[in-house]
Parts: sequence; C-alpha cells; structure tokens
Amino acid sequence: MENRGNGCQSKRFDEEYLAGKYEGKKPAKIVCDWNLEFGDYIKELGGQIAVFGIGPGRNLPSYAETGYAQIIGIDFNSVAIERCQKKVEENAWPNVELIHGDWKKSGLKTKSCVAIFAINTLQFVNGPEEAQTVWQEVGRILVPGGLFLARVNSDRFSEHTNHHNVSEDGKTYQIAEGSRKGIIKHCYSEDELKNLAKKTGFEIVEISHRTHLRTENKLSPEYMEKYGDLINKRVGTKSGKWRVVFKKI
Ligand SMILES: C[S@@+](CC[C@H](N)C(=O)[O-])C[C@H]1O[C@@H](n2cnc3c(N)ncnc32)[C@H](O)[C@@H]1O
Repeated sequence: MENRGNGCQSKRFDEEYLAGKYEGKKPAKIVCDWNLEFGDYIKELGGQIAVFGIGPGRNLPSYAETGYAQIIGIDFNSVAIERCQKKVEENAWPNVELIHGDWKKSGLKTKSCVAIFAINTLQFVNGPEEAQTVWQEVGRILVPGGLFLARVNSDRFSEHTNHHNVSEDGKTYQIAEGSRKGIIKHCYSEDELKNLAKKTGFEIVEISHRTHLRTENKLSPEYMEKYGDLINKRVGTKSGKWRVVFKKI
C-alpha cells in the first residue's frame, strides 16, 4: 500500500468508519450494474482501473470478481484504507493495489487507466472550479475510449438539514454538525455535468437522476448516542443523485 499523506478533511470520515458504516453491506447495486453492463468493454480495452474514494471497500468484491487486470483503490482516509487492506488480505485478491492519498493529485500516469469509478465521492469539492479541475484530471488519466463512471450529489431534491451555504446559489455548502462537520460538498446540476463533459473531452453515455428517501441508518450504539438525533432528523427527507457515465474522446 502506498501512502501519499492526507489532509484534515480526510479525518472527518473516521468516526463513521470506526462505527462500522458500510461494514457487512453488500456492494452497491450501481457498481454491480455497471460492472455487468460495462465490465466486458472495460476488460477488452485491457488495462488497470482506478476507484476514487473507495471508502472501507464495500464495493471491492464487485470490482475484484469482475476480473479487471488491476484495480487501484484511492482514499485519503486512513481507516478506510486499513479496512480495504484487511479485505484484500482476507480474500487474497492479487489484483488490488491501494493508495492512501487524495484523488485530486493521484499521481496516476497520463492515459494509464481504462476506467475510473467514483461512487459518492466527487461531491467533496469546494465548488464548480475545483470540480472542473478534477474532471480534467480524470480525463488526463483515462485512455481514449476509457470510461468514467460516477455517482454524485445532484442539486435536485437535496434537502440539507444542517449546513452553511458556501455559494450564493446554495449548490456548494459546508456541513455544520455531526461527524462530517466542516466538509464542503458540491451538488451538481444537469447542465453543469453536460458542460463538464464538453469542456474536459468526454462523450456522454449516460446522465440519469435518482431520488431516494432517507431511511434509518443504524450505526454503532456509541455513534448513535452522539449523532442519532441528527441522523434521525433527516429520515424521510429526499436526496438526489446523478448516475454519470462518460467516455473519453
Ligand atoms: C461517502 S464515502 C463513499 C465511499 C465509497 N465510494 C462507497 O460508496 O461505499 C466518500 C469517500 O471519499 C473519500 N474522499 C473524499 N474526498 C477525497 C479526496 N479528495 N481524495 C481521496 N478520497 C476522498 C472519503 O474519505 C470517503 O471514504
């Protein structure tokens, strides 16, 4: 495992991960669906894939079992990377490499990946300019024809209960309470995604929207003791996400 250091933002996921968030959960449906739909295409391109913001590795089994030549998981949270490392050792996956670092400066070589997956992680940017820089970085790393598969927060139906606006339009905001306090999030609009594709050299394969109703998310008793009220306050509110698949031109 490679360590490229981490910033203070990265520590903010510690409490959730130490409290077991995502542990025991099956890989996310979106990842399984994408591996089924695009796995063969990606494997035919032949090369490594990268996973930005891999978290504690809930989706690792799905990537590993699809049979990609090499999977590079990146996350700046040390607990997440430790959990991934444990899963890699337990399952003896020979094709998984982990980088403890920031995907804004992944260090991955130009045209070195055939696909980049980013599930619920590219919203952690401080606004549209930084989003564009990150999209450009994704474009630099991918080979022509390579796929960028992302799920990001949308500006529709995002009912924030505890935040300070960073931008006037409210699309970029800072979380004010709870274990993620201080984290800046950006909610993308459909036009913004379309412009990002155009500006950073991608063909749009898919941009689709999903709205979901927040349900109870039980974590450890200690975590619920500390943050249960905050979490419960959000139950029943709606959250919107984009499914984005772009192909590098
Ligand atoms: C909401 S979690 C999602 C985890 C995982 N993708 C999943 O869906 O199970 C977001 C993850 O992105 C990571 N992250 C956020 N910004 C990052 C950055 N700039 N570089 C690396 N990791 C980042 C966090 O540490 C966290 O583990």
